[in-house]
Amino acid sequence: MQRQAIAWRKAGRRVVLVPTMGALHDGHRRLINMARKKVKTNGIVVVSIYVNPKQFNDPKDLKDYPRTLSADKKLCREESVDMVFAPNTLYEKDVSAGVKEDDLTTRLEGLHRPGHFAGVMTVVAKLFNLVLPDFSVFGEKDFQQVTVIKRMVRDLDYPISILVGPTVREADGLAMSSRNVLLTGDLRDQATVLSRAIELSRQSLGSRAVDIKRKLKRFIEKQPDAQVDYIEFVDTINLNPLKTVKKGSRILLAAKIGPVRLIDNGLL
Ligand code: PAF
Repeated sequence: MQRQAIAWRKAGRRVVLVPTMGALHDGHRRLINMARKKVKTNGIVVVSIYVNPKQFNDPKDLKDYPRTLSADKKLCREESVDMVFAPNTLYEKDVSAGVKEDDLTTRLEGLHRPGHFAGVMTVVAKLFNLVLPDFSVFGEKDFQQVTVIKRMVRDLDYPISILVGPTVREADGLAMSSRNVLLTGDLRDQATVLSRAIELSRQSLGSRAVDIKRKLKRFIEKQPDAQVDYIEFVDTINLNPLKTVKKGSRILLAAKIGPVRLIDNGLL
């Protein structure tokens, strides 16, 4: 991969990387389209597909994560992706180095999934070093992840521009996610409660965050199989928690719907 990337650079081709863990859906399609638009037809669009074991804190979650490589390749062909990079593994058996961050990753997902962001940052750093992209595209649905990656790029001086694609939603509001295929039976309907909670929070501008969080938790947990991990109103730049729900802040939430853990977020 790296040899090819160096050849592209020598030939003056601009490269954009869309890192994914596969099980591609229309949200990914949108990111790939953004990537193509950025580098036009002369540029190179690389989609990486790798279910990164280092970012899973729960072995069952890793085992159950959907893997659909043939369908993923078909989607990439439809979108004229230049290269699908789908390595079997990216780590040496005795790997002992990695990337960590000590501020943004200590909250929200970082609290609930120990080691998750160190795994994400390490694999993204490796992908950047292998693909040598000029641009890389991430989805806004993983808002904390995007914020952490931007911080990594800033603090470690990667010469890469990060582009952020919007969350793509199903008609009933459910944010598209590779994990949605795991929502069996009526869990699929129950899962719409997350986007409905975000909508509800939009009616609460000016209120104390602590009150609205309590109200939203009750609202979500009215669904028989829903259990909230966290609901937080944060500053969009540094993810600091806010005391008052105000315009321009962002709501971030995570909940289990049966066995499936989902996250969502929205700008208020
Ligand atoms: O968002 C994802 O799919 C993953 O966290 C990423 C960025 C591909 C790293 O494994």
